[in-house]
Amino acid sequence: MTTEKTKSELQKVQIRWLIRRDMANVLAIENNSFEHPWSEEDFLTCLRQRNCIGMVAEHDQQIVGFMIYELHKTNLRVLNFAVDQDNRRNRVGYQMVQRLIDKLSQQRRKEIVLETRESNLEAQLFFQKQGFRAVSVMRNHYEDTEEDAYILKYNLFNHESWILPFSSESRISEVDIDADAA
Ligand SMILES: CC(C)(COP(=O)(O)OP(=O)(O)OC[C@H]1O[C@@H](n2cnc3c(N)ncnc32)[C@H](O)[C@@H]1OP(=O)(O)O)[C@@H](O)C(=O)NCCC(=O)NCCS
Repeated sequence: MTTEKTKSELQKVQIRWLIRRDMANVLAIENNSFEHPWSEEDFLTCLRQRNCIGMVAEHDQQIVGFMIYELHKTNLRVLNFAVDQDNRRNRVGYQMVQRLIDKLSQQRRKEIVLETRESNLEAQLFFQKQGFRAVSVMRNHYEDTEEDAYILKYNLFNHESWILPFSSESRISEVDIDADAA
C-alpha cells in the first residue's frame, strides 16, 4: 500500500542564512540547475556586498535550496534561486519565497523583483503561482543566447496573477533595476 503524503506534510524546511560551509552544497545545486551557473567567486563577490543576503533551506540537515537576494530602498531583488532537483515540487521554493514575502513591509520595501529567461517556463509558472506578475521584457538581455529576460514583480498590495508570456529553461542574472542600496 502506498502512503501518499499531503502537501502540508511535504518537505517542511528550516530556512536560515547561508554560511561559508554551505557553499559546496549550494554550488552543487547551482550546477545542476543552470546551464550557465555562477562560480564560487560569483557567489562570494555578491555576498560580500553589504546589501546582499544568502539564505538556505534545510531538510533533514541537508541543504535543499538557496536564494541570493539584495536589499534595496523600496524592494528586494532576487539574484539567484534554486531548489535541489530531487526536492522539487515539494513546496521548498514556496516556503523560501514566503519567507521573502514576510520580509516586505508596508512602510518600506513593498516589492520583490527578479528576472527570468523567457525560456524558463518552469520558473515562470512557479512565480506566477506565488503571485508575481510579468511587468516588462528586456530584449536580447543575455550574453550567451539571444533570448529575452522577463522582469517579474511581487507587490505586497497587488499580487494578482499575470498573463504568462511564452516558453522553457534558464536563470537569474544581475541587472540593476534599482541601484539604490539600502
Ligand atoms: C523554480 C523552482 C525554484 C521551484 O521550486 P520548487 O520547490 O520545485 O517549487 P514548489 O514545489 O514550491 O512549487 C510551488 C508551486 O509552483 C508551481 N510550480 C513549481 N514548479 C513548477 C513546474 N516545473 N511546472 C509547473 N508549475 C510549477 C506549482 O503550482 C507548484 O505547486 P504544486 O506542486 O502543488 O503544483 C525550481 O523548479 C528550480 O530550482 N528550478 C531551476 C532553477 C530556476 O529556474 N530558478 C529560478 C530562476 S528565475
